[in-house]
Amino acid sequence: MQQITVEKRILLSPPHMSGNELKYINEAFKQNWIAPLGPNVDAFENEIADYVGVKGAVALNSGTAAIHLALIQLGVKEGDLVFCSSLTFVASANPILYQGAEPVFIDSEPETWNMSPAALKQAFEEAEAADKLPKAVIIVNLYGQPARMDELVSICQDYKVPIIEDAAESLGALYKGKPSGTFGDFGVYSFNGNKIITTSGGGMLISNNTVALKQACFLATQAKDSAPYYQHSEVGYNYRMSNISAGIGRGQLEVLQERVRTRRFIYQTYQAELADIPAIAFMPELTQTYATRWLTAFTIDEQAADITVTKLLQFLESKNIEARHVWKPLHMQPLFQKYKCYSHYKEMNIAEHLFKTGICLPSGSNMTMVEQMRVIKYIRNLLLGAG
Ligand SMILES: Cc1ncc(COP(=O)(O)O)c(C=O)c1O
Repeated sequence: MQQITVEKRILLSPPHMSGNELKYINEAFKQNWIAPLGPNVDAFENEIADYVGVKGAVALNSGTAAIHLALIQLGVKEGDLVFCSSLTFVASANPILYQGAEPVFIDSEPETWNMSPAALKQAFEEAEAADKLPKAVIIVNLYGQPARMDELVSICQDYKVPIIEDAAESLGALYKGKPSGTFGDFGVYSFNGNKIITTSGGGMLISNNTVALKQACFLATQAKDSAPYYQHSEVGYNYRMSNISAGIGRGQLEVLQERVRTRRFIYQTYQAELADIPAIAFMPELTQTYATRWLTAFTIDEQAADITVTKLLQFLESKNIEARHVWKPLHMQPLFQKYKCYSHYKEMNIAEHLFKTGICLPSGSNMTMVEQMRVIKYIRNLLLGAG
């Protein structure tokens, strides 16, 4: 009987512990700080704020919670408009719906795959003509790649509309030397298990507006009034990060730069090893940016390669390799069907094209070179006809 050997699974982006985390967790155990507050939470907030150079940070139990609180702080309410990148994970826009507000999606542009300044401008012009400007703009830095911040910030400033920078995937990235996440009125990071550094689950809201951060923290802890008993005047949330999770985060932050360097090296290796396949085009990076390359992504010219993205993904799956489609744009999601999207080109939506032709490759910073060469070998086999 023929024996079938299954090769070890290669995951898209698994957690990568450094070992330093245990020091902070043990400390929390010793002190019995097993709660959604404590010394690790305070220290992690200060360390993140120092790291990216902002006045303050609030540690939360998810990046989604951070986006939600930022929208609340910006006064987003029922019926308001919020502009948001379309090519992103659903969590970027779900909090708009929590507030009963209306998302308006903005297409990507080809050189960053992020929000198109041209489409944003058009959305603003039409909103102004209709006398209904958005309350906020959510700009996403896809797969750790900074968006065209100069152009986007300048357009939002022209209309005096605040920005929430969704840097869930781009902690550690730089745009013209400035940390990703620090360009808007609020910045958001995620520490989900698949992110560049993790707390198992968690997020951070950052800002230079310490008054707003204090209010966000108040709302994140059930909005308890300062009274000698449990009194509440506003709707609150249970959104704080636990002291154990924050301990993991502190240990992870110590190796952030190393993790970014490794992910960039993984991207460079894919690029070098697949450079001779003309049907593949990697996600580009602007010259003055330093992306985290959280996930290495490329598009395939399906006709030139004579292969579809679906076929490639199925083939990799059959080899026990986890790869994924690029995010399905939010304006194509059944959930957001009734909302408007502004395209980069009149005749073509870039986000739709990237979804149709794009794939994300395993990019974990703990993937071995042998594992990466296995991924590369199978892509080459299939695309060069030896599959
Ligand atoms: C672009 C983007 N925004 C927001 C989030 C939400 O973060 P979280 O999973 O921590 O709620 C994620 C990741 O999960 C993300 O990738």
